[in-house]
Amino acid sequence: MDLNFTNPKLPVIWHGGDYNPDQWLDYPEILKEDIRLMKKAKCNVMSIGIFAWSALEPEDGVYKFDWLDRIFDEFEKNDLYIDLATPSGARPPWLTSKYPEVLRVDAERRRHLFGGRHNHCFTSPEYRKKIRVINEALAKRYAGRKALILWHISNELRGEGCHCPLCQQAFREFLKARYGSLEALNKAWWTSFWSHVYTAWEQIESPSPIGENRLHGLKIDWNRFVTAQTVDFIKNEIAPLRKFTPDVPITTNFMGNQPIELNLQKLADSLDIVSWDSYPPWHSAKGDFEIAQHTAMLHDLTRSFKRGKPFLMMESTPSITNFQTKQMRPGMQKLASILAVASGSDSVIYFQWRKSRGSAEKFHGAVVGHEGHENTRTFKDVAETGAVLEMLKPVTGSLVDSKTAIIADWENWWGINECQALNREHKDYWEFVLHHHKPFFKMGIATDLIQQEADFSHYKLIIAPMLYMLKPGVTERLETFVSKGGTLVLSFWSGLVDENDLCFLSGAPGPLRKLAGIWAEELDSLYNEDSNSMTFSNKNSLGLVGTHGIKNYCEVIHSEGAEVLASYDSDYYKGMPALTVNKFGTGQVYYLAVNGDEDFLFKFHSALSEKLGLFAATSIRLPEGVIAKKRIGANGEEFLFIMNFTPVSQSIIIDKMYQNIENGESENGPKTIPPYGVLCLASHP
Ligand code: GLA
Ligand code: ZN
Repeated sequence: MDLNFTNPKLPVIWHGGDYNPDQWLDYPEILKEDIRLMKKAKCNVMSIGIFAWSALEPEDGVYKFDWLDRIFDEFEKNDLYIDLATPSGARPPWLTSKYPEVLRVDAERRRHLFGGRHNHCFTSPEYRKKIRVINEALAKRYAGRKALILWHISNELRGEGCHCPLCQQAFREFLKARYGSLEALNKAWWTSFWSHVYTAWEQIESPSPIGENRLHGLKIDWNRFVTAQTVDFIKNEIAPLRKFTPDVPITTNFMGNQPIELNLQKLADSLDIVSWDSYPPWHSAKGDFEIAQHTAMLHDLTRSFKRGKPFLMMESTPSITNFQTKQMRPGMQKLASILAVASGSDSVIYFQWRKSRGSAEKFHGAVVGHEGHENTRTFKDVAETGAVLEMLKPVTGSLVDSKTAIIADWENWWGINECQALNREHKDYWEFVLHHHKPFFKMGIATDLIQQEADFSHYKLIIAPMLYMLKPGVTERLETFVSKGGTLVLSFWSGLVDENDLCFLSGAPGPLRKLAGIWAEELDSLYNEDSNSMTFSNKNSLGLVGTHGIKNYCEVIHSEGAEVLASYDSDYYKGMPALTVNKFGTGQVYYLAVNGDEDFLFKFHSALSEKLGLFAATSIRLPEGVIAKKRIGANGEEFLFIMNFTPVSQSIIIDKMYQNIENGESENGPKTIPPYGVLCLASHP
């Protein structure tokens, strides 16, 4: 495997924070002290300029870079590096007064006032022009500077869209290009329903709570448009950076699986590196193990946008957030950081380096607080994490090798979210993605989260929970995957609509029917107080036995050649298939007609993993609440991370010789992992 560095200039795990020197220009002693403290915390990179437009261009066309020049000078003297942001995440008031078209219009058609951040129009030519000019000025000025190692486009780009006249026009152009004619659009959106047939392009408006809000085709295409417009917006930002600094990689910080309106895969395709901001609610009622799994799933999702490359954890809190998370208990800060690295991140970066003195985030956790010194629990935690990350240098650029993938597809999510069906309280698509991810997290089997367009050929096992919307070509690609020996798991509520959300007229699961070898006649969405169960058939080919609970969903299916592995125990579909497997070419397709309980999913996915020879990160037996993850180096070295997400010590027996990466000692035999502790091990082939 090849190593993949974010930037070969700094081939270590990056450690740092969002740094806002522009807020402290009147405090030169603080800026000086920052450098000393950064070194002490073992930081090597800072994200600078994220919201610095006012400081960079205080008046229209008047640029001030002297303060940033001084930061570059100081950083370079001290071997610190800069992830330089473009300032489009927030605007100065002068820009809005002069170019009011930059203000976003919401779905109720109200133009917003100046304020907050991110509330700009993505289409506005004036806004795009202003950004292009300032980005070009930044790129020209800092091209060739040693400290510049990454571009950070804007900040946490959001969906929701702008509904101004410019955006409405751009939306209509997008639709014209997509459909060619109004006739084709009317057919695709099934506008004969409720007499909504459009007879002129100008009649088409973006979805609105005070207007059209039920036409699924329109709503899904609006999300496609918002995504395309955001991609176009960032391409405008990127053009001058590529021109003047072709060697500096480009990222923007995502937010896990949010927002729903933005298909992040499309954004990722325009970037060199993917990154995200991770703020898990540690120590909340859900329990740390569940929170760790959810966080790991979002790390997996982010990493999978650029399969075969590490990602960056661009933000995380070193202590608390200002939207209420508890203080991290001792050990948690380091553990959460290592979870990111173990999942494939080549950085641990915080929001924020120093607490601001005023405004909305002055009480948000920071490496340096208002007391301004290093003698705090948080600072010590961060410095300790920094010391471990230094030792983890050999892990940099190494990869997570997944042979399992879960399809967690954005457009499918749009379709499920819109459809007027299903159990209202259990309609969240991600709930099912999370269910299927959990057994693999527990077993320590690496899992990618992919889109329908992804290359399937890397995998042995693909799980596609609720693959409701099937985009063109996907069935054929899944058929190729399975016929060549792949294993596919499908579930209830699959193969129902095409990419325009029009139902297939061939019986569910539509084009997947041949692959699955079943016909799904109807879906029973149970009330929350209902339940059913299923029992494995005698001598089924998976070798599983027993009875398992079912909640929420029971699909009534008929085998059309598939083997029945388990059947319903009660109700009018008693004795009918609940789980089947169909041979297709040299592979197999499982069809899970129900929402099986956690025990069932664990048993099912363990049996599949064993059958397919999917290797866990380690053969060490791990107690409940302890998980393992592995990265693989260029020469086959294995980096094994064992993480204790419980508040008590846990004992394990290490079953072969490893080197402890933190202290260089050999490890073999019994070992105790402290509460919220981690063990970072290496083994060489
Ligand atoms: C986001 C933003 C940051 C900051 C943090 C606070 O991630 O990108 O600017 O507001 O939230 O948690
Ligand atoms: Zn607009």
